[in-house]
Amino acid sequence: MNDVSAKRFRVEVRADAAALAAAVGEQIALLSHRPGDEPVAIALSGGSTPKRLYEAMAASPVYDHVAWPRVELFFGDERSVPPDDPESNYGMASKALLSGVPSRAHRMVAERGEAEAYEDLVRSRVKHRRDGIPAFDLVLIGMGDDGHTCSLFPGTRALEERKRLVVMNEVPQKKTRRMTFTYPLLNAADRVWALIAGKDKREKVAECLAARGRGEHPYPIYPILGVDPTEGELVWWLDEAAKPA
Ligand code: 6PG
Repeated sequence: MNDVSAKRFRVEVRADAAALAAAVGEQIALLSHRPGDEPVAIALSGGSTPKRLYEAMAASPVYDHVAWPRVELFFGDERSVPPDDPESNYGMASKALLSGVPSRAHRMVAERGEAEAYEDLVRSRVKHRRDGIPAFDLVLIGMGDDGHTCSLFPGTRALEERKRLVVMNEVPQKKTRRMTFTYPLLNAADRVWALIAGKDKREKVAECLAARGRGEHPYPIYPILGVDPTEGELVWWLDEAAKPA
């Protein structure tokens, strides 16, 4: 990890999941007013942790502070299920946020394996470029208790993808395949914020931060450590329960 990367990485801690959701929500509201005419491109994360953030964004006071017409929403990964399935990341975000806000949102049609179509959509909608790669204003990610992020799981093929931006990834540990952003797209972003909450994550957070501290990024074991934006900022937002002792 070079000095520059270290400088652009920080850990933010809030008391609990509610305080985390409020803090991140207000930061997203600020970001939605950033200068420039292009839409503010934000990729949402799946899983259970961001649900509280989405609910906070769909309600006052955060809702009132966001420039919704400027915000365009995407997804960083999706399970191979239709949107009305309880497993669907789009379904979760739709109930918690999308149904209540006037923003465009682009679902990943993972159940039909349309990764190339989603990559084309990202290339056509996200105009800002870094080394020729679409640069999101913000990508929200999470971390599983195995160190996976998006649908980049330990030992899976998508970890080695260096050309494609969105792929279908076989995930034998979940006996399924999922659609996911790859490292080239994640690391081109202006900002990547990881939302990590709960005591179950504390041990993995400690192991990952220790590895980062040693300048190591063993992403095949801890896929979240492969997320290190080339020029953008990386923030790990933790609640007290997930913060290492
Ligand atoms: C998904 C996510 C995944 C998630 C982690 C953490 O589709 O599941 O994108 O990467 O962020 O699994 O999930 P929790 O927030 O539920 O712990």
